[in-house]
Amino acid sequence: MTDKTDQSLPEPAPETAAAVRRLVLGWYDEEHRPLPWRTQPGEYATVVSEFMLQQTQVATVLPYYEAFMKEFPSFRRLAEASEQDVLRAWSGLGYYRRARLLKRTAEIVTRQWRGRLPRDPADLAELPGFGRYTVGAVGSIALGLALPLVDGNVRRVVGRLFALDEDLLKGAGLRRLWAICAGLVDPARPGDFNQGLMELGATVCLPREPLCLICPLYEHCQARALGFPENYPAPPPRPRLKTVREVAVALFRKDRLLVVQRGAGKAFAGLWELPRLDTREIEADQLGPEKVLFDLLRIHATVVAPVGTADSTFTNHRIRTELFRAEDGEGQAVRRQRHVAHKWIAPGRLADLPASRAQRRLFALLCKKTDDHG
Ligand code: ADE
Repeated sequence: MTDKTDQSLPEPAPETAAAVRRLVLGWYDEEHRPLPWRTQPGEYATVVSEFMLQQTQVATVLPYYEAFMKEFPSFRRLAEASEQDVLRAWSGLGYYRRARLLKRTAEIVTRQWRGRLPRDPADLAELPGFGRYTVGAVGSIALGLALPLVDGNVRRVVGRLFALDEDLLKGAGLRRLWAICAGLVDPARPGDFNQGLMELGATVCLPREPLCLICPLYEHCQARALGFPENYPAPPPRPRLKTVREVAVALFRKDRLLVVQRGAGKAFAGLWELPRLDTREIEADQLGPEKVLFDLLRIHATVVAPVGTADSTFTNHRIRTELFRAEDGEGQAVRRQRHVAHKWIAPGRLADLPASRAQRRLFALLCKKTDDHG
């Protein structure tokens, strides 16, 4: 994976690479956390954990991982499961596209590779959801291939070790980072070495207050030698979060509540939610509960009361949702404008639906208010 075209690449000297391998592996052997995908490793365990750990911290992943492995214990069982069941098990973890890609990978591994992962990195890279990071992680951890990987923790550890002060998120800086990692990875124990780098980043080489005094790489760390290790690597420019106001409606018909299912190709595809619109889709001064009901469902209903507000973030947006309760006494037909399905359910059944974390917050607001009034 070394990029030979970039002349600015001094790969780590062989002595440095050898020392880093020895120190990282020695430290990892003593200090690694007994995470379930390490104590009960396997090809499937590695794939599930690596999909879950993309964009999500270990502490958040743990309960989901345990439950997921119980419900879908093998590539085959995941391949045979319904997408709704998989989404439900993923509910709350975020980035739901990962769940769909993981299921498709399980289908391909089951049908095309007889339940075992392909050994060639080029074949791994063809599996759904397998970018460069995942090929490196699964290839090294599950298959023992000497492949590098770069994630946020590795970027910080290696960025500090070599005091890299360029933008490591793209372009030449990113290529250089991958090349350095390719030069460092231990050919005999690539999975442990890569996990060692990630573990160092997660537990010692912390973003703001690195614990240099207990770091196995203390002697070799150039950022530490320069005095302010926390200043490396250079922080990427942060996009400012845009603010969005959203209105969601809990529409009741007798004791039943209307929920709608998002269509394919949209964010949160396949998940269930309360009908909602936001200021990216509609002028701010026009946005209200009546408008949501009419634009999305062609329904005129009586808006009874505001229920409350809940905040969430999605990509680079900060979203404040106002939830309203409405009654549809006239039993009008619901004409969906953008959802693939709808149903009327008892509010007590909301917890059974696959839904995003933001929607779960709204469900909680609603159930609290319903209890208060009941
Ligand atoms: N982050 C991504 N993969 C990981 C792993 N195998 N161990 C710890 N943190 C991780």
